[in-house]
Amino acid sequence: MAQKIRLLLLGSAFAADLHVDAYSRIREKVDIVGIASADSDQAHKLLEKYGFSGQEFYTDYHDAVENCACDVVDICLPNFLHHPATMAAIAAKRHVICEKPLATTVEAGREMVQAARKAGVRIYYAEDWMGSPALSKAREIIEQGAIGDLKFIRAREAHSGSHSPFVQKIATAGGGALIHLGAHPITFALAMNDNRWTELVAMTSGGSEGNLIHKGMEGEDWSAALIKFQSGMKAIVEANFITYGGMEDSIDFYGTEGCLHVDLTFSSPLHGFSIPGFEYTVEKAEITTGWARPVVDEKYNLGYVAELTLFINCLQKGIEAPLGLRGEDGLETLEVINFIYESARTGKKITNPNQGN
Ligand SMILES: NC(=O)c1ccc[n+]([C@@H]2O[C@H](COP(=O)([O-])OP(=O)(O)OC[C@H]3O[C@@H](n4cnc5c(N)ncnc54)[C@H](O)[C@@H]3O)[C@@H](O)[C@H]2O)c1
Repeated sequence: MAQKIRLLLLGSAFAADLHVDAYSRIREKVDIVGIASADSDQAHKLLEKYGFSGQEFYTDYHDAVENCACDVVDICLPNFLHHPATMAAIAAKRHVICEKPLATTVEAGREMVQAARKAGVRIYYAEDWMGSPALSKAREIIEQGAIGDLKFIRAREAHSGSHSPFVQKIATAGGGALIHLGAHPITFALAMNDNRWTELVAMTSGGSEGNLIHKGMEGEDWSAALIKFQSGMKAIVEANFITYGGMEDSIDFYGTEGCLHVDLTFSSPLHGFSIPGFEYTVEKAEITTGWARPVVDEKYNLGYVAELTLFINCLQKGIEAPLGLRGEDGLETLEVINFIYESARTGKKITNPNQGN
């Protein structure tokens, strides 16, 4: 049997919960050996919730990365800490699982990818859409030719705003809705095209007073981009914080002989009406009374379980993750995000400087 992977978790809030849930389903493959969080009470409660015990607890992630004997460091810290935590892990010769976005700037992301390559360690880029069972099935159906040649994708993630205070500031988030939510549809569309995009044009709300709803947030609360790929395929990607009623993760595929529609968040087989309210219906739903579609296994459907299981399998085998889930793919996504910001700012179409049309 393959050796168990020793994992050090950084962070203990929302994303860390998603990850610990996944690891709790594959206990035979992974040992959470340590956790570092500025909020140690939250860290204890998180591990207890999933029945984990015997971990080392740290409040300083540098201390944890240096002193906890582990094979991989799983980074569920705010965006601006992805870079320093990854660089610390690489210096300690640990592999890294890094939540999206890879970093807050292209320069920081590039430094992470180059440092990992030089040190001979891997960065696994945690893009859950790449693990979503429904999206994997959609890709399989498309590869079978059921909708002919794929010509157009429309993909969006949207909800009414993040719970995390770090998302309010550009310095800690790297931007607004685009970098925070748009990272999902962008990585997905890029992965379907071997990262070969040729041109894009975009628009975003202006941030702060220029926003549609969230005037107190520095980054944009609305964004949309049109991207063209080398294959000729086009994509519209959307990300916004102006969507009430629960998180929308919606992906439409259009081919020469058919189409396919994926709704990751509102396609529950359950459908019901409640006067007192359901305990939980779907991520980011503001209320749970009245008609709702309570999710059945949200973390599984959104892809976290398959994505993180795949990373642990790759670590056991000592291999790189597939396209869309590598540090390089996180970097490509950041570059596209950066060009989308440039296009929105200048009003100009951007041609990919790294590839011909
Ligand atoms: N893939 C997804 O769908 C998804 C969903 C949510 C969040 N994320 C990503 O996961 C990351 C974390 O998101 P979150 O919503 O859990 O963030 P959060 O702000 O709610 O929590 C951050 C966690 O990091 C800890 N922390 C902050 N500063 C620290 C420091 N200096 N040292 C040690 N611990 C520190 C906090 O105590 C907390 O546990 C973000 O990068 C976010 O983009 C991804």
